[in-house]
Amino acid sequence: MTTPAQSTPNSPTIRSMRWWDIDDVHRIETECFPNDCWSIDQFWRELAGETRDYLVAVADAPIGYVGISTLAPDSDLQTLATDPGCRGTGIGRALLNQAIDRAVERGATSMILEVRADNHSATGLYESCGFEPIAKRSRYYPDGGDAVIMRKRPLKAGVV
Ligand SMILES: CC(C)(COP(=O)(O)OP(=O)(O)OC[C@H]1O[C@@H](n2cnc3c(N)ncnc32)[C@H](O)[C@@H]1OP(=O)(O)O)[C@@H](O)C(=O)NCCC(=O)NCCS
Repeated sequence: MTTPAQSTPNSPTIRSMRWWDIDDVHRIETECFPNDCWSIDQFWRELAGETRDYLVAVADAPIGYVGISTLAPDSDLQTLATDPGCRGTGIGRALLNQAIDRAVERGATSMILEVRADNHSATGLYESCGFEPIAKRSRYYPDGGDAVIMRKRPLKAGVV
C-alpha cells in the first residue's frame, strides 16, 4: 500500500506522515488556518484511521502535508497545506499528486474536495491538477464565505 519516499535533487522528500511529525505539522496548520485549525488530537485520530493517508514534505523538518480519506471508488481530500515560507515552489502540487497516487492504489477513481471560493492559490492548484467545480455552497463558512466543491474524475488516465 505504501510507496517509497521520493525526492529529487534540491527537492524535499515526500513520505508518509508519522506521529513524530505531528508537532511540526500542527505548527504549519495553525499558521495556515488560524481561525479553524485542527487540534493535535485530531491529527492523532487521522493518523490512526484505516481509510486515511497522510503525507509530509520534509526538508530539514516538515514543510507541508496532505491528508486524504479513501473508500473506493471515492476519495476525499481532507487537508493540504504548505509552510508559508515555502509557497510557490511546487510542494503543494507534489503533495497533491502523491496523495492522488495513494488514492489510486486504494482503488479510488475520483477525488472530491471542498475549498473556499476566494482561496485562489488553492483553486488554481486544484484546477491545474484536473479538478473541476461541481457545486457551490453559498455562505458555507462561519464568516459568510462561499465554498466550492471540486472533483477530479478519473484520477488517472485510463483508470475508471
Ligand atoms: C494552496 C497551497 C497548498 C498551495 O501550495 P504551494 O506549495 O504554494 O503550491 P505550488 O507551489 O505547488 O503551486 C502549484 C500551483 O498552484 C497554483 N497556485 C499556487 N499559488 C497560487 C496563487 N497565489 N494564485 C493562483 N494560483 C496559485 C498554480 O497553478 C501553481 O502552479 P504553477 O506554479 O505551475 O503556476 C498553499 O497556498 C497553502 O498551504 N495555502 C494555505 C492552506 C490552504 O488554503 N490549503 C487548501 C485548503 S482547501
